[in-house]
Amino acid sequence: LEFKVSLKELNTFGVEAKAYGLSRIKAESDLIEVFKFLRAEKLRHITLGGGSNVLFIGNFPGWILKNEILGKEVVSENEEFVELAVGSGENWHEFVLWCLEKGFYGLENLSLIPGSVGAAPIQNIGAYGVEVKELITNVEGYDLQGKRCSFDNRECQFGYRESVFKLKMLDQFFITRVTFRLYKQSQLRLEYGPVQRELEKLGLENHTPKDVSKVVIQIRQSKLPDPKEVGNAGSFFKNPVIEKNLFLDLVEHYPEIPHYPTEDDERVKVPAGWLIEKAGWKGRRMGDAGVHENQALVLVNLNRVSGTQIRELSEKIQQDILIKFGISLMPEVRMV
Ligand code: FAD
Ligand code: EPU
Repeated sequence: LEFKVSLKELNTFGVEAKAYGLSRIKAESDLIEVFKFLRAEKLRHITLGGGSNVLFIGNFPGWILKNEILGKEVVSENEEFVELAVGSGENWHEFVLWCLEKGFYGLENLSLIPGSVGAAPIQNIGAYGVEVKELITNVEGYDLQGKRCSFDNRECQFGYRESVFKLKMLDQFFITRVTFRLYKQSQLRLEYGPVQRELEKLGLENHTPKDVSKVVIQIRQSKLPDPKEVGNAGSFFKNPVIEKNLFLDLVEHYPEIPHYPTEDDERVKVPAGWLIEKAGWKGRRMGDAGVHENQALVLVNLNRVSGTQIRELSEKIQQDILIKFGISLMPEVRMV
């Protein structure tokens, strides 16, 4: 086997890496065929949607399944709710905009997140006070034996940037369809301060979900680099959830430290971006690997960086944050 397929255009970091081969999956029947082939050849595989949450740190000795399953279908509808079954290869942001046009609400805070619909449940995408787990009722797909399976919301075991698909089912299950239950009346979610403030600036009496989408897009464009211009995969690390005692120590030194409550009274979430900036990393670079100047949680490809260089920078940051704050940062991006 040879490494024949370049993955450079298939990952938003824009790093070069090669795989043995690639199959475009447009229908469930394609998937069943490809799984047969992979079993026969005893080949590894990885599924890719938009490649916006992966970092290739070398060539991948296996097969790429590029997800291109499309389609949107109204499964049921009443005055309050609509249930939509969506092909996993649909583009996430285009799906969000389509929902807003149709008057299906709930996803507006998740506007402009790159990637595919099928990857949304994998890490339970979240932004500006909303996590997608609140709107997903069902995730369907196929296991490696070609058997069709379905997970209801509870079975997905959603957590902060977590689900069963990232844990036990990692690379064991290809998601083909995600079912969402959305609202027919607007239910604005304005807990996240900056969204509320930007809406107030619009000076309108009543805000609509489309307004929320618009300000979320503005806020994101002001902080996050566009992968078309600068290679990146969004937040490189998860925000750490720490013990209350450690947090109280930190507050003594840094009374201004931002923090968020969690479901567990004994634990507090602190923003990794704040820690990384405080440690002096914001805007710094190591060769062509950099820390984004407007958002220290985002690592960027400043020219033609390799995955290994990005990983080295991330490890330096992890070591420094551990020494300075006693906190271990866990990567959010999947390294392959
Ligand atoms: P990929 O990167 O292609 O895949 C991610 C993982 O999911 C891989 O392990 C892959 O094997 C697996 N996978 C993908 N599709 C399937 C499938 N159909 N079946 C089984 N496994 C599959 N994330 C957030 O949560 N919130 C944000 O605000 C956010 N902002 C971002 C901003 C930028 C600029 C960027 C570049 C990324 C951001 N992200 C954010 C991360 C990323 O957009 C999400 O994780 C997104 O869901 C990834 O989708 P994808 O299709 O690109 O997944
Ligand atoms: N902050 C700094 N310096 C920085 C970055 C952030 O001090 O360089 C501070 C901010 O001032 C703010 C706090 O940290 O007080 C939080 O920052 P922000 O609201 O920008 O969000 P975040 O915690 O850095 C998380 C998600 C993002 C999501 C945003 C918006 C994680 C790992 N990241 O980032 O998700 O878009 O909130 O809700 O939870 C992603 O997962 O890829 C991603 C981009």
